[in-house]
Amino acid sequence: MTASEPTDFGDRRFGSALVNVTNVCNLSCRHCFVFRADNPNAPKDKMDDATMLHQLEALRDRHGIRSMLFMGGEPMIRKNLVMQAMPLFERSSIVTNGTYGIPSVPGHLVTVSLDGPEAMNDPIRGEGVFQKVKKAVFDRDPTDGTTVMLQMTITKENAPGIEAFVEEVKDWPVTGIAFTFYVPSLGESSELAWDDLRERDAVIDQVIAVKQKYPERVKTNVGALELMKSDRALSVTGSAGETCGLRQMLPLYMGEGGNFERTFCCYGNNVDCSRCGAYAVFNGAFHRRAGIELEE
Ligand SMILES: C[S@@+](CC[C@H](N)C(=O)[O-])C[C@H]1O[C@@H](n2cnc3c(N)ncnc32)[C@H](O)[C@@H]1O
Ligand code: SF4
Ligand code: SF4
Repeated sequence: MTASEPTDFGDRRFGSALVNVTNVCNLSCRHCFVFRADNPNAPKDKMDDATMLHQLEALRDRHGIRSMLFMGGEPMIRKNLVMQAMPLFERSSIVTNGTYGIPSVPGHLVTVSLDGPEAMNDPIRGEGVFQKVKKAVFDRDPTDGTTVMLQMTITKENAPGIEAFVEEVKDWPVTGIAFTFYVPSLGESSELAWDDLRERDAVIDQVIAVKQKYPERVKTNVGALELMKSDRALSVTGSAGETCGLRQMLPLYMGEGGNFERTFCCYGNNVDCSRCGAYAVFNGAFHRRAGIELEE
């Protein structure tokens, strides 16, 4: 049987893409955008390994994809597939919840999610998750050449735990600690989202303060954080993502019939760009702006 061809997303070039290799996840984090009602997320592993490998290769060649981010759901649930698919791209990285162990992928980036110190992480990610992830991090060979970053997604709720998180993980055998902020859905009013960007500014200052306190451990770039402030954020994102650099990335969600579907952006559909907290958006803009300034 020949593997089916991927969905037609036109012939536009996408230098980078992300793929949700599965919608299955062993956790149910309260802030997770993947499982929001407006996103393709129902099919559970309906694309078999051979088909996915074929389709990723076909999409790579069609769109010129050089960099692929493997995500889910929990990508490590399909570890064999991910290990086979990573070499298809010049640069591959994985974002994982860390509960299935930390994969050894020399030369590549593995981002491990934790959402605060243990007492704050576990009510969000699940009882016992912090210790399980800690064990996985300490069990890996820290000299295997894999770049491992711990990432905390800051919401209005866990923001008071920023410094305690860094204190708790600063001596772990990882490359560094990263922060990103919550991306709410349109019209969302919840305990996780800041209603007004101005309320988030003081939290950004806390991240800048921990960066200044632990400059070697916290990898977050202060220039990018400054761009997230309420007086500048919309100049980066636009009110509806018009100027967002992350929209140059092809998001491949697992949709109807086990086929890939493209969403509005990596964070899915129905996102509130005017309150976007995706660090990658602002870091990309910071580097582009710095590049332009250098050329001038
Ligand atoms: C959706 S998860 C998928 C990979 C894996 N299951 C994990 O948790 O790392 C990827 C990352 O997105 C973050 N995330 C989830 N919901 C978010 C939201 N609404 N806004 C910003 N980041 C979010 C998670 O905390 C995690 O770091
Ligand atoms: S582990 Fe990742 S995919 Fe699963 S619910 Fe949490 S954030 Fe979402
Ligand atoms: S939600 Fe954020 S990442 Fe997505 S398009 Fe809007 S600004 Fe960009």
